Amino acid sequence: MPSARFQQLKETLNRQILGQPDLIEGLLIALLCDGHVLIEGAPGLAKTRAVKALGAALEARFSRVQFTPDLLPADLTGSEVFHPQDGSFVFQPGPLFHHLILADEINRAPAKVQSALLEAMAEHQITVGKKSWRLPPLFMVVATQNPIEQEGTYPLPEAQLDRFLLKLTVNYPTPALELAILQQHRFGELPPDRDQPLTQDEVQRARKAVLKVAMQPRLEQYIVELVCASREDPDRLIAYGASPRATLGLSRAARAKAWLAGRDYVVPDDIRALALPVLRHRLLPSYQADARQLGSDELVDMLLDRVPCP
Ligand SMILES: Nc1ncnc2c1ncn2[C@@H]1O[C@H](COP(=O)(O)OP(=O)(O)OP(=O)(O)O)[C@@H](O)[C@H]1O
Ligand SMILES: [Mg+2]
Repeated sequence: MPSARFQQLKETLNRQILGQPDLIEGLLIALLCDGHVLIEGAPGLAKTRAVKALGAALEARFSRVQFTPDLLPADLTGSEVFHPQDGSFVFQPGPLFHHLILADEINRAPAKVQSALLEAMAEHQITVGKKSWRLPPLFMVVATQNPIEQEGTYPLPEAQLDRFLLKLTVNYPTPALELAILQQHRFGELPPDRDQPLTQDEVQRARKAVLKVAMQPRLEQYIVELVCASREDPDRLIAYGASPRATLGLSRAARAKAWLAGRDYVVPDDIRALALPVLRHRLLPSYQADARQLGSDELVDMLLDRVPCP
């Protein structure tokens, strides 16, 4: 299957969300890899707008959930509702039964709620009481997190971060882009573009095509070396390295990036470009790194410098 429809979608989204091409590409790569995304960025940087635009561009049911300290797991999964007329219980599905879910400010809800979401992400299944429901093949969670105002938040445990294929960060636009955003919004918020949405079938076919993208053994070796280098850092700057899930994620995401670019083979730059979004949330900086004010982004850069690129 050719990637023209996805390239067109990428352009449509880039026209609606100005100056955030990495965010847009990351969302599409995750969609192509059956993966989930965590987006970190200050308020007002078009995180919600980007996910809504993606939702509008797909033939899929979209829902947004604002995570708050009083949210309950049943607010996500749904619950059995009692019908007094006949004394029966009928299951009322919650927002997790949609295809694309925007979990806004995921770190504002307590661990029980987060784990209801993360379980659905990992197992493609929701259990309420004694019954389990399989989720549809298209089930993508995009969670957002605000790096400032950490007070009163519940940071996601490291083990659960691993379930996100990519962690994307969004930064402030340049003054020129800010002006373009202002002009774009002159007459108010633009509704998302709903022209020719991608069907679920198209998404599934594209996912299959991505799996067929070729990767030379020396590039597979490169991915393994990058991930393994995170586990045996000689300077002890990394307390915990990345898991095999990172290896699989990096290989699949690199294939998706190649396919989106219209190639049927991976080049080293596909891997290098995705190392940061795939690895940054899976490395834990050590005390030594904290003392030198090195964050996980710098540690991934260090790995890219250290491991020879084929
Ligand atoms: N790069 C951009 N291109 C187009 N519009 C933008 C861009 N950045 C911000 N905006 C506009 O700014 C406003 C805020 O965007 P949005 O609500 O998506 O932010 P957010 O990142 O979700 O914020 P919060 O963290 O508070 O939820 C919207 O009107 C959006 O259209
Ligand atoms: Mg938002």
